[in-house]
Amino acid sequence: MAAEGKNPTATLTDNTTGDSWELPIFEGTTGPRVIDVRKLYAETGMFTFDPGFTSTGSCESKITYIDGDAGVLMHRGYKIEELAEQSNFLEVCYLLLHGELPSPKQMKTFETSITYHTMLHEQMMYFFRGFRRDSHPMAIMCGVVGALSAFYHDSTDIRDPHQRMVAQHRLIAKMPTIAAMAYKYSVGQPFVYPRNDLNYAENFLHMTFAVPAEEYRVSPTLARAMDRIFILHADHEQNASTSTVRIAGSSGANPFACIAAGIASLWGPAHGGANEAVLNMLMEIGHKDKIPEFLKRAKDKDDPFRLMGFGHRVYKNYDPRAKVLRQSAYDVLEELGAQDDPLLDLAMELEKIALEDDYFVEKKLFPNVDFYSGIILKAMGFPTSMFTVLFALARTVGWVAQWTEMIEDPHQRISRPRQLYQGYTGRPYVPMKER
Ligand code: CMC
Repeated sequence: MAAEGKNPTATLTDNTTGDSWELPIFEGTTGPRVIDVRKLYAETGMFTFDPGFTSTGSCESKITYIDGDAGVLMHRGYKIEELAEQSNFLEVCYLLLHGELPSPKQMKTFETSITYHTMLHEQMMYFFRGFRRDSHPMAIMCGVVGALSAFYHDSTDIRDPHQRMVAQHRLIAKMPTIAAMAYKYSVGQPFVYPRNDLNYAENFLHMTFAVPAEEYRVSPTLARAMDRIFILHADHEQNASTSTVRIAGSSGANPFACIAAGIASLWGPAHGGANEAVLNMLMEIGHKDKIPEFLKRAKDKDDPFRLMGFGHRVYKNYDPRAKVLRQSAYDVLEELGAQDDPLLDLAMELEKIALEDDYFVEKKLFPNVDFYSGIILKAMGFPTSMFTVLFALARTVGWVAQWTEMIEDPHQRISRPRQLYQGYTGRPYVPMKER
């Protein structure tokens, strides 16, 4: 623990009995301090109660830092805006996994390893064919990624650092291939195999949009925008899917199974599914004139409708990733000659109105990353059902980096929260004939 030597404490007093306990306070390199409650149950017989984990730090980590009030996101100390501007996705992957920016030689070796792991075991093609043609690509992705553990036995021993590294590289490398195949399967087109002469984002766009019948030229602007979307989604500390990966991994499950669990968690509309939900919402709103009606619904406690792409558990300021994507949205639409896209127009107007609305101002509900990513992805030609798949593809590096950090943490134990039991206390069993 970072500041164990300083020994500051907090006092917890049970006002019913008058008993009190000293709890250690730890300080990270930055961010809020934490109260160490690990011995609380043993010493007091009480648990903490924190459904949704709003006040709970579940691990120590050196990977990603978020200051939600200031709207700051950093990976290994580097600001996301700088990485999005100056780096590329594979370099960010290296940074997340290894903690430092790579030397040219390290970068070359890493790129080569990722490039040469992009193909899928040919037998996995049959696995795809088992899915219904109209399956959601996230359903395919959950299944196929989980199935990697049935195909790559030589990288499932989590105690072997070399096998862990091979699993990391395989997952990062094969995710675009799996995502593109999930798409091709859903539209009934032949799978397109990876190409080693293309970079990570270009290769993905090629596998997704090329057809064997004609040449497909990857636009550098679109490839750059794709790469930027990948960078912006690469990691986000202990969010729902990452915590799912860590919890699944804490029992010793293999990395492919853990990432499949993360994909399942990401799928929900409160998390990675929000980009798909934003687009559906914009289409439902349809016209600027209807914005007030939808804003009214978003504010109505009795209406489950929420403004998708707004609000965040951690950010109580403009999501720094949304800022970068806002600009990217203009670049992409300009390249595609679609600056006048009515959906973008509607999104801008909605953003403007919501940012001035008392309800959204008071509750600090700002646009999040999903607000703009959907617009860009739609303009690039992706169907909405693929949006969360792309999030999963990019987040894979964050998941594997966090999973590795957990496995290598000497304090790591199986995650096993407790509960506040509110059910029946003991009662006698009533035989069927007496009920
Ligand atoms: N529209 C209307 N009201 C909202 C919204 C919204 N999008 N988000 C939060 N609120 C209100 C909410 O009703 C609550 O009001 P009150 O205090 O009066 O009960 C207050 O703001 C706090 O919301 P919360 O649900 O307690 O906050 P949370 O931290 O549990 O939820 C969230 C965060 C992201 C799930 C939520 O803001 C939301 O549902 N947003 C829309 C979905 C979305 O865009 N998700 C993507 C998140 S970013 C990508 C990712 O990390 O996966």
